[in-house]
Amino acid sequence: MRVFVAGATGAVGRQLVPQLVAAGHQVIAGTRSESKFDALAALGAQPVAVDGLDAAAVGEAVAHAEPDAIIHQMTALTGGSDLKHFDRTFAATNRLRTTGTDNLLAAARAAGVRRFVAQSFAGWPNVWTAGPGITEDDPFDEHPPKHQRESLAAIKHVERAVLEAPLEGVVLRFGLFYGPGASEDMVELIRKRRMPIVGSGDGIWSMTHVADAAGASVAALTHGSGVYNVVDDDPAPVRDIFTTLAEVTGAKKPPRVPVWLARLMAGEVGVSLLTQEHGVSNAKAKRELQWAPQWASWRDGFRSGMADTHPASAR
Ligand SMILES: NC(=O)c1ccc[n+]([C@@H]2O[C@H](COP(=O)([O-])OP(=O)(O)OC[C@H]3O[C@@H](n4cnc5c(N)ncnc54)[C@H](OP(=O)(O)O)[C@@H]3O)[C@@H](O)[C@H]2O)c1
Repeated sequence: MRVFVAGATGAVGRQLVPQLVAAGHQVIAGTRSESKFDALAALGAQPVAVDGLDAAAVGEAVAHAEPDAIIHQMTALTGGSDLKHFDRTFAATNRLRTTGTDNLLAAARAAGVRRFVAQSFAGWPNVWTAGPGITEDDPFDEHPPKHQRESLAAIKHVERAVLEAPLEGVVLRFGLFYGPGASEDMVELIRKRRMPIVGSGDGIWSMTHVADAAGASVAALTHGSGVYNVVDDDPAPVRDIFTTLAEVTGAKKPPRVPVWLARLMAGEVGVSLLTQEHGVSNAKAKRELQWAPQWASWRDGFRSGMADTHPASAR
């Protein structure tokens, strides 16, 4: 299959390109920067320079590539740790989820692309009262904290646009990423003791190794349709995740702070994320995408690689 990857140089894209090549696909790899062409070519892809927010350029690049499928992995997550102003932090990513998605879908339609796989997110967008093991049928939270409303709207946009488009659309809801290129900010925060356990730390997070996000994206080229939670098998309390991360990176134990203080430091969104989430279920993805996480538990994933993770400030 000829596959156009938008966002081929990010934490997921760098895992995805070699996995696609290994599976026998021809990969056309999008980046805004020609300085990344050599690295993409070394992975076996044909690089193309394109800004996902430039509709004409996207149309031209996709038409020229003549792909059978498009995988949308464009985000702008760099420097994204200000939870208090969540929508501001995610503003560029939200534009890529709205305008970027629309540009790719319009280009796909014009070029007769058959299949489209897009990135979404599982966890905070869901209703927290839905209980453990949230499935794809459980609703989104229609009343998120004020500073998360634009980000929820962007998530809903990408999902609706892909599923309603006249092609085979697949939406992959990833958990919190970790792994090469995706953990540096988290490691830096834990080393600086700026990732506290809030209250009893019993919000439940679902994690996704970036290699598994890539693996599910490859699987979604040939299997499934609709929405899938792509997370590991081990949803876990935030206190366990932070404590283990501190252990494996040689950091001091994370501090504990009461909810009222966390509200001052990280705002309503921060408190929600750290105390009120439930984990999500990956049963549908396993069944229909015939995919299973290589890293079934973040505990093993952390131990295998985090100790060597360099803080973002040292890169
Ligand atoms: N908390 C989390 O879950 C999480 C997850 C992942 C990463 N992070 C953090 O975020 C930082 C960077 O992550 P990342 O490597 O995935 O990078 P990123 O900045 O999120 O970029 C991801 C991809 O999107 C592409 N992209 C962005 N804007 C684009 C545009 N306008 N047009 C076309 N493509 C566009 C980038 O391509 P080009 O730049 O090559 O054009 C890149 O391939 C790291 O510090 C990491 O720790 C956090």
